[in-house]
Amino acid sequence: LPALRRQSWSVPSFVAADGTLPRLEMEFTVSSKKLQTMVRHMVNEMRKGLESDGHMLKMIPSYVVARPAGDETGSYLALDLGGSNFRVCMVELRGQGQTAIRQSKHMVSDELKTGSGEALFDFFATCIADFLKSIGIDPKEKRALGFTFSFPVEQNAIDHGTLMQWNKGFACSGVLGVDVVNLLNKAMKKAGMNITATALVNDTVGTLVSHAYRDPQTFVGVILGTGTNAAYVERIADIPKWTGDRKNITDMVVNTEWGAYDEQSILPITSYDQALDRASNNPRKQILEKMISGMYLGEIVRYILVDLVSTGELCRGIFTPKLQTPYAFDTAYMSRIERDHSLELSDTKAVLENMLDVHNTTVQDRRIVKHVCELVGIRAARLSAAAVAAIITKMKRLDACTVAIDGSVYEHYPHFANRMRDALRELLGIMAENIVLEQARDGSGQGAALIAALHAK
Ligand code: GLC
Repeated sequence: LPALRRQSWSVPSFVAADGTLPRLEMEFTVSSKKLQTMVRHMVNEMRKGLESDGHMLKMIPSYVVARPAGDETGSYLALDLGGSNFRVCMVELRGQGQTAIRQSKHMVSDELKTGSGEALFDFFATCIADFLKSIGIDPKEKRALGFTFSFPVEQNAIDHGTLMQWNKGFACSGVLGVDVVNLLNKAMKKAGMNITATALVNDTVGTLVSHAYRDPQTFVGVILGTGTNAAYVERIADIPKWTGDRKNITDMVVNTEWGAYDEQSILPITSYDQALDRASNNPRKQILEKMISGMYLGEIVRYILVDLVSTGELCRGIFTPKLQTPYAFDTAYMSRIERDHSLELSDTKAVLENMLDVHNTTVQDRRIVKHVCELVGIRAARLSAAAVAAIITKMKRLDACTVAIDGSVYEHYPHFANRMRDALRELLGIMAENIVLEQARDGSGQGAALIAALHAK
């Protein structure tokens, strides 16, 4: 109910009725009706993507056909390249859905993200060798690994897939259209290791499978982090484009790549979204992702704040160079500001001063900033809920389904989960009670290990 009420907010009393804020209010508010239209349209787009290639939703068959029984055991190596970090994990499957994990985490610098593919994969090989040494394992020992590579990849086997498109700020040369497993295997061999990647996995697929290890009702895996995407269990009969052997297969996990959803007549795209898209390194791509995910939410807010300063409605029209720097307003700042319930909005003041060099703000300025964060944050949560509702509707699992959700936005952004639940209730009515949204943790690491294990079976 609070979210419902939110959607009919009137213009806050501290705002001039003829200013920019009332317009923002209208532009960023997504009605239930609009969300319902989005659900219907998305279901249709999912069908098209399952029918044949070349549609808005790629609907990539993952080659993952088995679900864990929960009794898998053994130690498996897993790699995870998601957004800002690269992780190397040693996952011990202990049976009964229990796991233990040792890992090392490495920042992927902007230089690596936009350099050559060879440099990127050599970096991975070095991290793997260092990690194995640190846990007392000889890198020359023969072993298999699961590789979570969270980008749109056209898979033609569980251990083979070519990159269709970079996103989330990556633009390495020499990788597009190339088999990423081969690149990884070559780099590991060059570094003197005897390790072979035996499973290539999207993070959403890993999240789904690793959560299913504990909760067999899990049929959807979602990432709401630096990027956004979902995978779900589809009946093989409903994947007409699948040309592989159907014998003994009833279901397959499908990676939707929903971040690419881009229906201009349905998505509430504003001039700020357009400006962000134009300036991004993947213009006209990943439009839904740019409205939902952690890489972009702060940047949308920054565009709005710049506009409000330029009209003199914020900070007496005074700019700071930081505020004008692309991506200087981190999504984590939005979280802090939305969490600030103090009377004077003192933490918002601290964020503005320490992070953006914006000094001497009034309480009114800070209220405006907070309100802008809320508008952008609520829109993201509601669009995410509509996308989840589309998947549940497509699966016809309105009676019972667990949706495993991982990623920094879902985990750390205040109210995100509640706002999603409220929007799901608006969309699915009483049936929303059958849908369990669950925080998943480290699906990418454990999921890749499990898939490697299932495959070894
Ligand atoms: C991007 C990638 C997708 C991934 C998502 C979350 O949307 O294209 O493969 O699952 O980010 O990391």
